[in-house]
Amino acid sequence: MKKGIVKKLIAIAAVATIAISVVGCGSTNGGNAEKKEGTTAKATGIEAIKSKGKLVVGTSADYAPYEFHTQVDGKDKIVGFDIEIARQFAQDLGVELEVKDMAFDGLLVALQADKVDMIFSGMTPTEERKQNADFSDIYFTATHKFILRAGEEASITKIEDLKGKKIGVQKGSIQEGIAKTNFEAGDIKSLEKVPDLVLDLKNKKVDAVLVESTVADLTVQKNEGVAVAKGLEIKDPDGGCAIAMKKGSTELQTEINKTLKKLKDEDKINKFFVEANKIAMEQ
Ligand code: ARG
Repeated sequence: MKKGIVKKLIAIAAVATIAISVVGCGSTNGGNAEKKEGTTAKATGIEAIKSKGKLVVGTSADYAPYEFHTQVDGKDKIVGFDIEIARQFAQDLGVELEVKDMAFDGLLVALQADKVDMIFSGMTPTEERKQNADFSDIYFTATHKFILRAGEEASITKIEDLKGKKIGVQKGSIQEGIAKTNFEAGDIKSLEKVPDLVLDLKNKKVDAVLVESTVADLTVQKNEGVAVAKGLEIKDPDGGCAIAMKKGSTELQTEINKTLKKLKDEDKINKFFVEANKIAMEQ
């Protein structure tokens, strides 16, 4: 049984395209103006991180296998493949890692307010977000899928079949945006945390939940009574997820891209992904 799951996970990992440096979201603001920012007291550039001795990462730990809560020796811990990447980056910088869990729609605000140095949260670098933050190269790509109640997949095979039903999405996510372009506002329910959406689905408060395909696939393996909608996959026009940092963080961006490239070359991101799925399944 366990072996079967692991095999499945490896298959998922193989399908999920790991893409680094594919999308040119690494456009830096290379200019002198930004250089000055590095000298201000509140700057969260590389020097500031090194001098405080820790990298403070913001995440919304409700998105297994990216980031989620688990128990280690009876203690609550945030794990996931994003967190492993963050851990590697902190190690490369020679600093400690601190992970702050918050609502997904509060992450960019926290970054602006210098509450966190970077965001590792499966965040998609949309044009809108790029107005307020810089992003690393894309390190993972996935599509979006609807989770349904088991047994309802046969009758819901296209977007039209979901019209008039309640669609659950995470507040502030791109899935919320996708839902808004496809469904009536009154048919969309936005919640802060993804597991609450899954609960609402089981309790018939929503009829479908839209999340990244990797999250959908894991959710249905972990939960009884839910299934992934077939043939209803939505491609991600923004190309996957990346790490966010304050605008003008040119050096930080160069360094995180180096770590990502190294991890990719060593096939580590894939390994972290498989490992995170395993931990989530064993919970
Ligand atoms: N990729 C989507 C976005 O950027 C959803 C990410 C949700 N992440 C999370 N940790 N809950 O909007």
